[in-house]
Amino acid sequence: MKILGISGSLRKDSLNTAALRAAQQLVPAGSTLEIFSLAEIPIYNEDIRDKGYPAPVQKLRDAIKAADAVVIACPEYNYSFTGVLKNAIDWASRPPEQPFDGKKIALMGASPGMLGTARAQYQLRQVFIFMNGKILNRPEVFIAAADKKFDDKGNLTDEKTREVIGKMLTALVNS
Ligand SMILES: Cc1cc2nc3c(=O)[nH]c(=O)nc-3n(C[C@H](O)[C@H](O)[C@H](O)COP(=O)(O)O)c2cc1C
Repeated sequence: MKILGISGSLRKDSLNTAALRAAQQLVPAGSTLEIFSLAEIPIYNEDIRDKGYPAPVQKLRDAIKAADAVVIACPEYNYSFTGVLKNAIDWASRPPEQPFDGKKIALMGASPGMLGTARAQYQLRQVFIFMNGKILNRPEVFIAAADKKFDDKGNLTDEKTREVIGKMLTALVNS
């Protein structure tokens, strides 16, 4: 299975991108996880879309379409998911062939706080209902106190978190 990883943070030392890198090591045998950076995606503007999708947006849409499943790791900003991610979803949501339609999707998130992006993830689930994504219900992956679960090189060192990410990926592949 080909899995596409999308991080909702552009930060070089992002804990969420680091969680995706950990997921790359934890995918079940026979599956791969490639990370797509949202750094080049412009701010959504319907006037631009009317002239055709900008190349980085087309690349994102194609990558989602080509993947068997998508894993999103997103920070929680002000009790929601990030504008960076919402902007990318908005670009992906437009016709033709909305690429999240029927796509297997799993969510995870890392925060130094105690709720591990739970509030953001529930809002993201709501958005994917409209996109008709096939969202994995469980296991949920809330990486709380995340600043203590990665080393200074961004390696995920917390065994329980590695375990739950591995279980989530297995459930996604088998869903
Ligand atoms: C604008 C902004 C709003 C934030 N709001 C929340 C929040 O509501 N809940 C939370 O747990 N953390 C919040 N944080 C802290 C982020 O969880 C923290 O910066 C995290 O490391 C960001 O993810 P990243 O490391 O992948 O970039 C906020 C950070 C920023 C910059």
